[in-house]
Amino acid sequence: MPNLKYLGHSCFLLSANNIKIIFDPFLTGNPANIMQANEVNPNYILVSHAHGDHLGDGIEIAKRTGATAISTFEVANLFIEEGCNAHGMHLGGKYNFDFGSVKIVPAFHGSGVAGGHACGFVVDFFGTKIYFAGDTCLFGDMMLIGKLGIEYALIPIGDNFTMGPEDALSAVKLIHPKVVIPMHYNTWPLIAQDPKAFEEKINSFCTTKVEIMNPGDNLDIIF
Ligand code: NI
Ligand code: MN
Repeated sequence: MPNLKYLGHSCFLLSANNIKIIFDPFLTGNPANIMQANEVNPNYILVSHAHGDHLGDGIEIAKRTGATAISTFEVANLFIEEGCNAHGMHLGGKYNFDFGSVKIVPAFHGSGVAGGHACGFVVDFFGTKIYFAGDTCLFGDMMLIGKLGIEYALIPIGDNFTMGPEDALSAVKLIHPKVVIPMHYNTWPLIAQDPKAFEEKINSFCTTKVEIMNPGDNLDIIF
């Protein structure tokens, strides 16, 4: 059964069948301090954009492990310039990997690299569809992402830099995932939020289950 481990902020480790994917590998300087950059051994590194709290230790991990970075072309080039393996894609593009597929979807946010665009990912991981939204505001086309049939949606609720809880509620209504996992909150006081209040709001509107993960928590992926 696939396992999702939360490493704090927007960093998650998804694993099954000897394949490990790390999302937005911000470990050094991450106040959650669950794992160190030299302790993770992913096969793939998915990077939504090049801000420090998302690109994080990605290049160092790729250099040490030989993992393949997957991102938009401009962010993938940051890895290639450092001699790392990277697979550049772009908005709307989907590609098959040995675990399933990755589709790059838009995120409305800075990319952190000239000419680039922030992104989210829809990952088909051994048959389970996971939407990792990255850093983004609410946008109406999340409805179209929802039409892909999302089982798990990982969405930011921290506000200030991304959508806050109110817009995240609207996002859930557009995406209709089976499970929503809030992220990108409580890392610093600036993005402090109450995930329980978010859960109660969701519960009063729809059947989507809220899984509040504390840094270090593991979740069985059951769909
Ligand atoms: Ni950002
Ligand atoms: Mn961020």
